Amino acid sequence: MSNEKKPLSEQGLREKSDPKENVRAVPYFLIMLIGAIAMWALSNIFSTPSGELTEYGDQRTVADLRPPVLTGGASKVDGKQIYGGKCAGCHQASGAGVAGVFPPLVGSEWVTGDEKILTNILLHGINGEIEVNGKLYKGVMPAWGMLTDDEIAGVISYIRSDWGNASPPVTSATVKSQREATKDQQGTYEGGRALKEGS
Ligand code: HEC
Repeated sequence: MSNEKKPLSEQGLREKSDPKENVRAVPYFLIMLIGAIAMWALSNIFSTPSGELTEYGDQRTVADLRPPVLTGGASKVDGKQIYGGKCAGCHQASGAGVAGVFPPLVGSEWVTGDEKILTNILLHGINGEIEVNGKLYKGVMPAWGMLTDDEIAGVISYIRSDWGNASPPVTSATVKSQREATKDQQGTYEGGRALKEGS
């Protein structure tokens, strides 16, 4: 075997060519596969009915999730809930009040009687003498005019209908018109007499 050196060109032919980096690293078929999966997922989302009762999840429909105020239904607000949050601290959850301090709402003519006077009590509050169920109170009832018409209507409709009280509900329209009619009332009503005159 001869030991002579082969010419460079022949040596070069045996070498593999230098590796070079591909511009497109992700293979076509993979891109197609991801695309197909994305399209399938999207079409699945759009073709699934969302407004109907489904057999999955907690069974709520879109109508159930819509806030009651927007549906314009009878139960615009939860009057009992407002009562629990804003009024029960003084008038008690039972509506019986606290003897000598906070008057009862149960059986009170202010609650079960004229809806306009009751609305005015909520809108502007009372301070001064007021007789409730034959007893005289001299305290301060804050105004609740910052509540919406719906909220005031809801809470007074509630106190007119629980604990044995059985007076018809008060509408938001009544609250709205009383708000307008008493807009010149400065501060709280000075007791029961002022309330009766102011209605
Ligand atoms: C800070 C305590 C307090 C809170 C809270 C309060 N009230 Fe009163 N409320 C009083 C007092 C005190 C009077 C009596 C006022 C007086 O003596 O001049 C009164 C009187 C009334 C009256 C007329 C008298 C009667 O007993 O029928 C009504 C109706 C009434 N409140 C409803 C409500 C409603 C509804 C709420 C919740 C939105 C509420 N009050 C929240 C203290 C409170």
